[in-house]
Amino acid sequence: MTDKRQQHLTQSAEWLALSQHAEHMRDVHMRDLFDQDPERFERYFLSAASLQLDYSKNLITDETLDRLVALAKARDLPARIEALFRGDKLNTTEQRPALHTALRNLTQESVYVDGADVMPEIRATLAQMEQFVWRVRSTQWRGFSNKPFTDVVSIGIGGSFLGPKLVSAALKPYWHGQLNCHYVANIDGSHITEVLRHINPETTLFLIQSKSFRTQETLENTKVAREWFLHNGGSEDSIGKHFVAVTANRDEAVRFGISQDNIFPMWDWVGGRYSLWSAIGLPTALTIGMDNFRALLSGAHSMDKHFRSAPLEKNLPVIMALLGIWYGNFFGAEAHAILPYDHYLRGLPAHLQQLDMESNGKCVDLDGQQLDYATGPIIWGGAGANGQHAYHQLLHQGTRLSPADFIIPLHTHNPVATHHAILFANCLSQTQALMRGKTLEEARQELIDQGYSVSEADALAPHKVIPGNKPSNTLLFERATPRTIGALVALYEHKVFVQGEIWNIDSFDQWGVELGKQLGNNILERLLQSDESTGFDSDSSTAGLIELYRRRHESERD
Ligand code: F6P
Repeated sequence: MTDKRQQHLTQSAEWLALSQHAEHMRDVHMRDLFDQDPERFERYFLSAASLQLDYSKNLITDETLDRLVALAKARDLPARIEALFRGDKLNTTEQRPALHTALRNLTQESVYVDGADVMPEIRATLAQMEQFVWRVRSTQWRGFSNKPFTDVVSIGIGGSFLGPKLVSAALKPYWHGQLNCHYVANIDGSHITEVLRHINPETTLFLIQSKSFRTQETLENTKVAREWFLHNGGSEDSIGKHFVAVTANRDEAVRFGISQDNIFPMWDWVGGRYSLWSAIGLPTALTIGMDNFRALLSGAHSMDKHFRSAPLEKNLPVIMALLGIWYGNFFGAEAHAILPYDHYLRGLPAHLQQLDMESNGKCVDLDGQQLDYATGPIIWGGAGANGQHAYHQLLHQGTRLSPADFIIPLHTHNPVATHHAILFANCLSQTQALMRGKTLEEARQELIDQGYSVSEADALAPHKVIPGNKPSNTLLFERATPRTIGALVALYEHKVFVQGEIWNIDSFDQWGVELGKQLGNNILERLLQSDESTGFDSDSSTAGLIELYRRRHESERD
């Protein structure tokens, strides 16, 4: 750790200054800030890498931003950003770099891991993808009965699922007309059953997506897909035409029966939740084509360049990260909402849940010391305007604070009637309502104007008060294109990184998910065991539930 980062976060002068400033800001209302400054929108507006951010509807002043930036500097953020791009082993618990930025490095610059330049491998993999995607899309690569492929089924979970799924859906207007794409993730037989029900083995290509090639859900679903293929006309000899894998564990994939020639590489310096830019992006590349996939990378790369070079106070991911810290650490916000006003982006909250919560859901610092401050928020959300008729009520009048990002394109791919203008108006109305709210006096007057008596208005008005002063960002882009979507996802990756750096945690490991996996294996054994032998040490709740299941499935075990 550099000298600058030695000091305990909550005892640093910058943190204490922010605490004090927050005390003062608690009495400030954004309505007044807007009234006092007609240029607030221009003041708190940033553009970078084809994205635009209006962050004026936040409970901030210039002083807030100065103090937040001072905190980032005190945590040595510029040096840490350089370390990320340079490939330093920032994932200290696994002694690995986090080099997703290298995957979209479109410059001629080398990037080194343990003294070896990784760029030639990355370029070779892109070329391998290019060749494969071209062969499938041009129908040169065909199924066992010589028919062109009509369906791609991606089998993978977590980062080997959410990122590609998000990006494929976000770029639906760019899909190849003849190629459909499905995702199977869950170890719930219904998921794979529903997908297999609608496809033809002769014309289906399976992509097995697993960095480790050890993930139970993925391997079990692959076995089912393989059996289904063999029982429906496919043969062992034709498996090579229909099963392709992306993995860092080539040996395990080969042992599993995937042909050597059908394996695309992954590397341990790419985290699962940052892997959509690697060959894990194959389902996306197959559906949108390699030119568009490269445009996606270039959008992310332009965000990388901005993140690496812009001063902190003009740096989009940094500003969004600092705003998150402001509310999470100084106003007790426990959640953050992601509200895309774009049907194609409806998978964004799910992807950002993994990205943010798996990265920053940590309770010890880099030295293993218990933290005395909050880290990553609960990420939630969904597509607007649907959410307005569901959970926005809590945003407006609930007792909990959840800052929100409203994300909307200026143009739609599908201009239907005046839908897009209505969608846009809805989006803005929400951010305005969150910011302004409605006072008791306004509510009362409104009721009187509607013909209520004074006593009726007095009784009803408190229910109609909207406190306002609820923070939101509005993120805009021209249209959901490969470039803008690339930039958008990279923006959030860097936001998460900045927050992890300020909190001094390892944003690139995920030990928390391991315990459940270990326990799950023991429980599974017990569920399937035919004898009644005890020896399974468990709490009464888990043991009771296991026995309940065993009794219901008794006949299957005999
Ligand atoms: O269990 C969590 C996790 O390890 C994620 O971090 C990862 O994205 C996912 O599982 C899938 O892992 P793999 O790609 O190795 O199958």
